[in-house]
Amino acid sequence: MLILFSAPPELWDRYSAQLSDGLLEADLDATIVTETDTPEAVDYIIYAPNRGLTNFAPYTQCKAVLSLWAGVDRIVENETLTQPLCRMVDDSLTEGMVEWVTGHVLRHHLNMDDHIHGLNGEWRQIAPPLARERKVAVLGLGVLGMACARALSRLNFQVAGWSRKLKSVPNVTCHQGLDGLQEALSDADFVVLLLPHTPQTASIINAMTLAMMKRGAVLLNPGRGTLISDQQVLDALDSGQLGHATLDVFRKEPLPADHAYWRHPKVTVTPHVAAETRPDSAVKVIVENIERGESGRSFLNTVNRTRGY
Ligand code: NDP
Ligand code: OXD
Repeated sequence: MLILFSAPPELWDRYSAQLSDGLLEADLDATIVTETDTPEAVDYIIYAPNRGLTNFAPYTQCKAVLSLWAGVDRIVENETLTQPLCRMVDDSLTEGMVEWVTGHVLRHHLNMDDHIHGLNGEWRQIAPPLARERKVAVLGLGVLGMACARALSRLNFQVAGWSRKLKSVPNVTCHQGLDGLQEALSDADFVVLLLPHTPQTASIINAMTLAMMKRGAVLLNPGRGTLISDQQVLDALDSGQLGHATLDVFRKEPLPADHAYWRHPKVTVTPHVAAETRPDSAVKVIVENIERGESGRSFLNTVNRTRGY
């Protein structure tokens, strides 16, 4: 079996040994290459979008493209891709996202900045409310949004969720549609974006939806940069409609050095680190999918190309 690992070289350094071991343990006889002159002989492509592979047409026998990323916005519309596309769903990725989201919600909930930056000698005793008095809206109740909604609910936050299809989740008030979006946003103290980028979600946080939010709400975006209209978010921060924006993903990455987000006092930039795909757990997911492909079973985590995620 021939596997093409099409991802940046630094990922190859991190994955190569674990991938070989994982395939060996699963009794899969495979050669893994990072480049090939015989694309027609490739059985699987392990793929990250930042390596430059854009034409999948020559990979005529390829049984699946296995993405190392959960978000597939940079490949899903590629018309040369006729092979099944599987996205990354991995426990470590989910754990990382839950930690990033709860950590940043708790930062704002507990008003940690005041204490970290110092009260300048002033004994200002303002205790924060309890989590059960605060509301969080999680837009996107997929693998990551659902895990975050559950974790926040376990911390006692009042959690509302919004998804394309209506969900039923214990202790999470679920919504769908535009009215549901308005309801979820209208009284949230924190709004977490865990939607994929699709034509329907592009700029979903814009002047209209920002105006639906409670004044002073905090926006957290670990989803995709395209989910928010940057200028309208900056305007809402300046007017006080938004209290703070904690952003992990951007329309252009790395975020350009002259971007207003770097300097804005009410913006926290984290450099796309909310959740990382880690080789030890991701390799298991990839090997399982290859095993499935080789034994004629259906792949896990296939992307619905029409839906776009
Ligand atoms: P999923 O595909 O599991 O979930 C997507 C969720 O978004 C689903 O609940 C889906 O609804 C909802 N959704 C999609 N379109 C719409 C719409 N038009 N209206 C309302 N809801 C919609 O994705 P994951 O949870 O695994 O990941 C979410 C995103 O997180 C990824 O696409 C990626 O962009 C980002 N990500 C960021 C990382 C980081 O480090 N910053 C790391 C990993 C992922 P339904 O359930 O009804 O289908
Ligand atoms: C992903 C990401 O989609 O890192 O996996 O954003």
